Amino acid sequence: MCSIYMLVVAIVLPCCFEILSLNCGTLMKETLRYLAGIVGPSGYGSKSTAEQVAHSCSYLVDSQRLTAIITGATSGIGAETARAVAKRGVRVVIPARDIKKAAELKERIRKDNPNAEVILCEIDLSSLASVKRFCNEFLALGLPLNILINNAGIFSQKLEFSEDKFEMTFATNYLGHYLLTEMLIEKMIETAEQTGIQGRIINLSSVIHSWVGRDCFHFNQMLHPINYNGTRAYAQSKLATILHAKEIAKQLKAKNANVTINAVHPGIVKTGIFRAHKGFITGKNLHILVIQVFVFSFSI
Ligand SMILES: NC(=O)c1ccc[n+]([C@@H]2O[C@H](COP(=O)([O-])OP(=O)(O)OC[C@H]3O[C@@H](n4cnc5c(N)ncnc54)[C@H](OP(=O)(O)O)[C@@H]3O)[C@@H](O)[C@H]2O)c1
Repeated sequence: MCSIYMLVVAIVLPCCFEILSLNCGTLMKETLRYLAGIVGPSGYGSKSTAEQVAHSCSYLVDSQRLTAIITGATSGIGAETARAVAKRGVRVVIPARDIKKAAELKERIRKDNPNAEVILCEIDLSSLASVKRFCNEFLALGLPLNILINNAGIFSQKLEFSEDKFEMTFATNYLGHYLLTEMLIEKMIETAEQTGIQGRIINLSSVIHSWVGRDCFHFNQMLHPINYNGTRAYAQSKLATILHAKEIAKQLKAKNANVTINAVHPGIVKTGIFRAHKGFITGKNLHILVIQVFVFSFSI
């Protein structure tokens, strides 16, 4: 789980996180750095752990006063991020579609840090009604909100539709998080005003966003199982999360709000997200995939 450090770095250094807009030459250098585990300007490399970053992070010094919502924390990158920040004393709210899995994570976090405050709630990010329910439930708790990590995601090869009749990958990775951010952003602005602590929103994107290319979004032609391309759907959803971050950043600036938003590529991590791609990604070819992803990005 080394490269989860990238996500924690995004919490720590929100203003200099521009990896998603690097030019080709820089991207190549960054890829080699990544593969070799060489430390970057942030002071961390792909061999750093989330815990190491969280430990040396000044933003988390007063972490007892921070509250974070982390979506998709029942596995992979989100689970490790939740564990690392909870260990620093951050109150972690975990909205999950599988409460049993979330309860197991809570137990693991509490084993690591018996004083950790972990709040579990239900959410299905592919359902707008469920996102609304969660937001109302969270807001009713009267808690502050400093950090929102829009991390949950799917990468499916099969065409499916959400209960709102949107293509499932777009609904889960983008639309659900869009609504979540809309409904919680005022709470984040208010918390930042009251505490003087900068609020931070982090959208999990992917370098694969650049596969969408110049011809941009295609929604309609994908809505047939024969034409469906899961990788394209995933790439589109990840491009949308970057555009979302750019737009919200503009709106926050216009409001003079003490809240930042950034989109981050977390590196290539072997997690549950690749479960539908068995044989495609294995421990052995993970490094090859990293090179392919970056090299492919250059040709777009
Ligand atoms: N792994 C990588 O190499 C990589 C690279 C680039 C970007 N990313 C991005 O990083 C983020 C985390 O991915 P990961 O690799 O940690 O994947 P993961 O292990 O599969 O975790 C995905 C998480 O999202 C949750 N989730 C999925 N659909 C949901 C829904 N409808 N409602 C609520 N929660 C839902 C899952 O919950 P369940 O436990 O219930 O399934 C799980 O907790 C994703 O946004 C992904 O696109 C990952």
